[in-house]
Amino acid sequence: MISAPERIATERLLLARVSPADAEAAFEAYAADPAVTRFLSWAPAAAVADVARYFAGAAAAWDAGSLFTWSVRLVETGALIGVADARVDAYMVNLSYVIGARFWNRGYATEAVRALCAWAAAEPDVARIWAVCAVDNPASARVLEKAGLVREGTLPRQAVLPNLGAGMRDCVCYTLERNERARAY
Ligand SMILES: CC(C)(COP(=O)(O)OP(=O)(O)OC[C@H]1O[C@@H](n2cnc3c(N)ncnc32)[C@H](O)[C@@H]1OP(=O)(O)O)[C@@H](O)C(=O)NCCC(=O)NCCS
Repeated sequence: MISAPERIATERLLLARVSPADAEAAFEAYAADPAVTRFLSWAPAAAVADVARYFAGAAAAWDAGSLFTWSVRLVETGALIGVADARVDAYMVNLSYVIGARFWNRGYATEAVRALCAWAAAEPDVARIWAVCAVDNPASARVLEKAGLVREGTLPRQAVLPNLGAGMRDCVCYTLERNERARAY
């Protein structure tokens, strides 16, 4: 079973196991913003209660070991600026991340992804660390490249992105090279 630390500190960020108590700050920072949800699989939240419900589910998933979700806060101010998560499927860890628009382009997502990669890479049972993003989401692709993941290719018709309209969307797949461990499987 893959386990995850409830708190991860980086130079500028504190990642902490998410809780329904984070919902109001998350609603304010990113969850209701259509610019943030544009390439995501969920519509902007209509109410704080929607976010609280999602975070309650995330807390249960943490206990089950299937999905680890961290709030992302600035060390300097304590402000919640986003979330990052790691979905576990057997020996694979799939990363995703969201940062509030007023905090974009300051390297925060890259810093969070690097920290999650360091954790996952040190977990003995993890053989694949990967992420996908929509083909037309270059900021996300750039984060993954800066964090050291390598582009593997395009996955055709991989995701439903309701904020872009109906239909299945192509995604780009990135992975952190773990060849030596993957060979053990
Ligand atoms: C993707 C996202 C997490 C990036 O967060 P961030 O904290 O701004 O990321 P960073 O600052 O670490 O890096 C962003 C990089 O993308 C680049 N970038 C931003 N917009 C871009 C665009 N339209 N085209 C190309 N590059 C772009 C930035 O210049 C920066 O690269 P650089 O350091 O080489 O200049 C943020 O935009 C976001 O939350 N978007 C909405 C949710 C989302 O798409 N999540 C990813 C799901 S797969």
